[in-house]
This record gives sequence, C-alpha cells and structure tokens, in this order.
Amino acid sequence: MAGFINTRGMTARMTAAPSRAYWSRWLRRWDEQQETFIPARERRFHVMMDVLEAAVGRAPRVLDLGSGPGPLSLRVLRRFPRARCVAVDYDPVVLRIGRGALGSYHGRLTWVDTKIGSPGWTDALPLRRFDAAVSTTALHWLPPATLRRTYRDLAHVLRPGGVFMNGDHLPEGPREPEARRLFRRVYRVHRHGRSRAGRRDPWTRWWRDAARAPPLAASFAEHERRRAQHPHVEALSLPGQVAALRRAGFRTTMTAWQVLEDRVLVALR
Ligand SMILES: C[S@@+](CC[C@H](N)C(=O)[O-])C[C@H]1O[C@@H](n2cnc3c(N)ncnc32)[C@H](O)[C@@H]1O
Repeated sequence: MAGFINTRGMTARMTAAPSRAYWSRWLRRWDEQQETFIPARERRFHVMMDVLEAAVGRAPRVLDLGSGPGPLSLRVLRRFPRARCVAVDYDPVVLRIGRGALGSYHGRLTWVDTKIGSPGWTDALPLRRFDAAVSTTALHWLPPATLRRTYRDLAHVLRPGGVFMNGDHLPEGPREPEARRLFRRVYRVHRHGRSRAGRRDPWTRWWRDAARAPPLAASFAEHERRRAQHPHVEALSLPGQVAALRRAGFRTTMTAWQVLEDRVLVALR
C-alpha cells in the first residue's frame, strides 16, 4: 500500500502494509485519549480483573462488549494466560486497529463485527457459552430498550454462575441542576492535567487523525456510513440497569468499585 502514515505528527512514506507497530501506536493513542476522560481507567480495569478471577477463575471464556480496539480484552489475555476472549464491536475503524495491533493473540482472541442488541446478534459469536461478559465505556451508547434486550441475551450466553461486569459512567438517576453543575466542576478538576490546555478534546483529535490515515480510509468510509445510523440516546441510569439485569435473570447485582459516577457494576448469573 502506498501513501503516508501519520500518527501524532509522525509522517512517513509507506510502501507496504502497515506493521503491527503502526497499529499498536493507534491502540496506545486510544488508551491515552480514553484516560483523559477516565483518569482512574487503569484502576478500573484492575478491579475488573480481580472480580473476574474471584468469580470464574483463571481460564475464563470472556465476551468483551463494545471492545473498541481491544484494551479490555488485552488486559484479560495478559493477566490470564489461559483465558480466551471474543471482542465485539461494530465500528470498522476500531476493529481494524484492534486486529492490526493484537491479531488473534496466539489464537486466544476472536474479533466479531456485529451490532450488540440487534436481532440475532449473538448468532455471530463463535462460542455458545461464556463464563464472563465484560464491557467498559460502551454500553451507555445503547438505547434503553436495546440494552434491556442485550441483558436478556447475555443471560442466555452466560453459563449459570457466570459473571457480567459493566465499567461505565453510571449516574444514580436524573440530577438536580445544582448537582449537575457541581459534578461538571468536579470532573473538570478531576481531568485537569490530563488533557493539554488549549487543544481540541482528545477524542475529537483521535478521530480527526484517524480520518486522515490512508491505511484506515476504507474502514473510515464504512464507519461514517454506520455512524449516520447511530441515534443519540439517554443511557439507562444505575437503578435502571440493575432492574434490567434482575429482570433478565441475574440473581445478584453489586457495585464493585466507584469513583464519582464511574462504576463497575457486577451481576451474577
Ligand atoms: C468509547 S468506546 C470503548 C472501547 C473500549 N471498551 C474501551 O474501554 O476503550 C465504545 C465502543 O462501543 C462500541 N459500540 C457502541 N455501541 C455498540 C453496539 N451496539 N454494538 C457494538 N459495538 C458498539 C463503539 O463502536 C465503540 O468502539
């Protein structure tokens, strides 16, 4: 492939297919931009790994929902050398980066391009049964009715005794205006120093750079097409999620970790 590659100001003439190192740089930049929004992200991953081990042991079959380019799957695979992961997303750009950076991870990682919550989405999964389903910063994208349906589907693909974990921004419910203003200020303080002052927000910058990278051009065109169909939604609050999980057949729910409104919600099947 001829063209120019550009990640963080680095431009180089490219004559062959991009290397694993090239895709790994995109994955690293993904982590960096996510950390500006969730400064305690690494700690959150860590807690999720601890709960995973305590709930289903050290060789779990794990479904990663809204995997992006695979940061959560990567942490599972690194920590548990006998784990297997199925990473599900429907954005071709992040899937391209994940496949390029992590590949099949020695045969332990499978990538699936499917829209979570759409009718029959679990048919695309390569396994019928999982020990765990995990997700970070993704399920708030799903409209409430779709999320409820997804939780019902998860109750089928998780084995009895399996665990579901959602690490996400999970507010307790609608906030009074004064509380909303206070939280906004707290988040500003919380993130201070992570994003460079005066620059465009890191998410926008990441996507702007991705749009300009020739190795991502084909995936980006498809990304745009799918994004146009993506509605903006008001995500389910914590009580709504708990109720949906209980109704779907999960027997126990708990918050395993929390910083401000960022939580790890755990449900046992
Ligand atoms: C902010 S990213 C988080 C990615 C990764 N889990 C992380 O923590 O870095 C949210 C991801 O969810 C994916 N997503 C949102 N709705 C989805 C759906 N219905 N089906 C599949 N993926 C979805 C998006 O494409 C995006 O890659």
